[in-house]
Amino acid sequence: MRIKIVAGNWKMNKSHSEAIELVQKIMASDYDNSVQLIVFPPSIYASEIAKITSSSATALGIQNCSEYDSGAYTGQLSASMIRSMNVKYVLVGHSEIREYFNEQNKTLASKINQLITNDLTPIYCCGEVLQEREKGNHFNLVKSQIEEGLFHLDENQIAKCVIAYEPVWAIGTGVTASSSQAQEMHHFIRSLLAEKYSENVAGSISILYGGSCNPENSQELFANPDIDGGLIGGASLNAVDFIAIANSFS
Ligand code: PGA
Repeated sequence: MRIKIVAGNWKMNKSHSEAIELVQKIMASDYDNSVQLIVFPPSIYASEIAKITSSSATALGIQNCSEYDSGAYTGQLSASMIRSMNVKYVLVGHSEIREYFNEQNKTLASKINQLITNDLTPIYCCGEVLQEREKGNHFNLVKSQIEEGLFHLDENQIAKCVIAYEPVWAIGTGVTASSSQAQEMHHFIRSLLAEKYSENVAGSISILYGGSCNPENSQELFANPDIDGGLIGGASLNAVDFIAIANSFS
């Protein structure tokens, strides 16, 4: 059985004290304990948040990592450093990094290798921009992101990954993919996994939806058979909304 996940990507938001307050509020809330909650704060707060979350079921994640082992890469964090901080999850291939830093699938494949080698769980983001959907090219585009970023992994390694489908046109825009558009793409991704690996492997990988997910639409999205939770941006900056999303599985 795959796990249900609600992950909060705080991006470049929150002061130090606001970040601590937010994680404490999340941990003090009542939520469905069959859901794995993950917070992705700005990395500068990670070591302090790691101490706060260490005794709780809320997991800590990091928003990005380097594709290199170590050395002269100013500003970067290696997977082994992240591993040494009691962190389990790392985002890979978020569309903002793909776009603003021109990150290619090949680089993402190297990052995935770093994470797998260091026993971390990648949350691999994929999704099309609006023009690709309008051209009817969204399935091809997502297929190439999945194939080039992940399909070099063997069956045991891919089973350690989480995938997040985030249509770029829905991120931070207030426009959500409809429940049927999201389910259709999640089902497509799962069928790619089944074809390449097996039904068993495909059935064990959590696929999250991201893009303007909020307490008003999460219930309908999460009711779909191939949607195993959400990667939440804006609505994760407020503990009440984030927890309401975590509590919206039927
Ligand atoms: P959003 O962001 O929920 O603010 O659209 C989602 C994401 O970028 O992960």
